Amino acid sequence: MTAVAPASPDCSAIVMRGITKRFPGVVALDGVSLEVKPGECHAICGENGAGKSTLMKILSGVDRPDAGTIEVHGSPVAFAGTGDAERAGVAIIHQELALVEDLPVAANVFLGRELRTRLGLLDDRRMEAECHRLLRSLECDIDPRARTGSLRIGDQQLVEIAKALALEASIVVMDEPTSALTEAESARLERTIAGLRARGTTIVYISHKMDEVFRLADRITVLRDGRHVATVHRSDTDQRQVTAWMVGRDLADGELAGGRTPGARVLEIRGLTLPWPDHPRGHRIADVSLDLHAGEIVGIAGLMGAGRTELLETIFGAAEPNWTGEIRLDGRPVRFAHPAEARAAGIALVAEDRKRLGLFADLDVAANVSLCALGDARRAGLLSRSREDALVAGPIRDTGVKAPGPRAAITGLSGGNQQKCIIGRWLLTRPRILLLDDPTRGIDVGAKAELHRLIDRLCRQGMAVLLTSSELPELLTLADRIIVLAEGRRTAEFSRAEATEQQIMEAATGYAPT
Ligand SMILES: Nc1ncnc2c1ncn2[C@@H]1O[C@H](COP(=O)(O)OP(=O)(O)OP(=O)(O)O)[C@@H](O)[C@H]1O
Ligand SMILES: [Mg+2]
Repeated sequence: MTAVAPASPDCSAIVMRGITKRFPGVVALDGVSLEVKPGECHAICGENGAGKSTLMKILSGVDRPDAGTIEVHGSPVAFAGTGDAERAGVAIIHQELALVEDLPVAANVFLGRELRTRLGLLDDRRMEAECHRLLRSLECDIDPRARTGSLRIGDQQLVEIAKALALEASIVVMDEPTSALTEAESARLERTIAGLRARGTTIVYISHKMDEVFRLADRITVLRDGRHVATVHRSDTDQRQVTAWMVGRDLADGELAGGRTPGARVLEIRGLTLPWPDHPRGHRIADVSLDLHAGEIVGIAGLMGAGRTELLETIFGAAEPNWTGEIRLDGRPVRFAHPAEARAAGIALVAEDRKRLGLFADLDVAANVSLCALGDARRAGLLSRSREDALVAGPIRDTGVKAPGPRAAITGLSGGNQQKCIIGRWLLTRPRILLLDDPTRGIDVGAKAELHRLIDRLCRQGMAVLLTSSELPELLTLADRIIVLAEGRRTAEFSRAEATEQQIMEAATGYAPT
């Protein structure tokens, strides 16, 4: 018996040549080539819509190219589906989570490759045990039997990662794996990546977080508008150059928050507590107080599970109604039973989970953007398409959405552009208080800088903003004050001038180095 010869060490793990992919109205990829060495961590950078996900969907058998060739470990391949790619050792962690919400976690991890008993029955016990082991290796304690849809988006992302790990693939593609993870969880993922690399696994890594790219990648490839711009060794470049390649110009990183003067107090929160009955902690939020003024941006920092999202949802009438404490709007106590009431009172919430709380896949771009401002007029058939187009033109321009037109399918937009549509939707409601839950997750550096300027401008016009972010630099750029939550409790407040990443992390983890 002869064993299958191992790939020769100097043969590339991946060679893609001249890959072209068209969608109606867009050339997503225009003759892109990519070569990845075995055992390498290769990052792919580019603005929203540059073609990163499309290239990786082609590599992993999700989409087929219109032209071009692919070799994996030296052999030409033409994958007809993800199953083919998996058999060739290529696994992908999708940007838009592709989990079945109604199935338990373990069933998702083994979907299509279920473990069976000798009698051919589903071996739930073994799948749960194996799933538990994989999740432990990611240092998280998600219950393999939990319904996947009941998990928060960060946990779902960890399940998606576990699913790819279960394949034990020789090539793992990670499309923005940390976009819903906190710093601590991202650090765990980085340790997992180091473990994979020690075993010789090749990694292709897509991220908009430049510091992550520069920590992890051996080489970086930049795409712009569906074309290859550059491939460089990390040590031969820097963040500024990569960013300039991405956006085609140098970005000025100006001071933003300086010189804003907060006005009257619009929101006052006192002793807010949101119980968590079946959890040892007993509360999602405990005794949180804060003030928010017109023309002010207050940042909420904290790790996943710290209660940031719950805080915003409680204010917005989108959480369990059993909270105690006081929420005052312009001095008057309020208790919204439904988000529609909060909206009528001039509050908007841009949610972190665009798939579950935000996007409507059956509606086109314009309808998704006009949804809250015009939902009723639209349903009653009172709204003409051209009026709607005119209405959404402003927010689409302000947020920098790249789409073939207002009537394009929302599902055809790249992840970051979908997120911009949701922000645009809420701007259209002209809120006085804007609650932003990790608003620039998955948005490229250029668009992020533009959104930061937009939020700053709105704030200077008197809007009050409460902002969470999974990236501390974003809070430090935008917020006048930063409030830190840990396990649902408020542990610190910093003014922007005095805050440092180190101090915030210490307050968020309750860990102070001696
Ligand atoms: N299924 C589809 N139908 C129509 N157009 C699509 C489809 N998938 C992608 N596109 C288009 O192809 C282009 C590239 O999209 P892609 O998702 O690859 O971008 P990306 O670089 O991953 O961006 P992001 O950083 O926002 O995730 C975009 O213009 C997008 O609108
Ligand atoms: Mg993408």
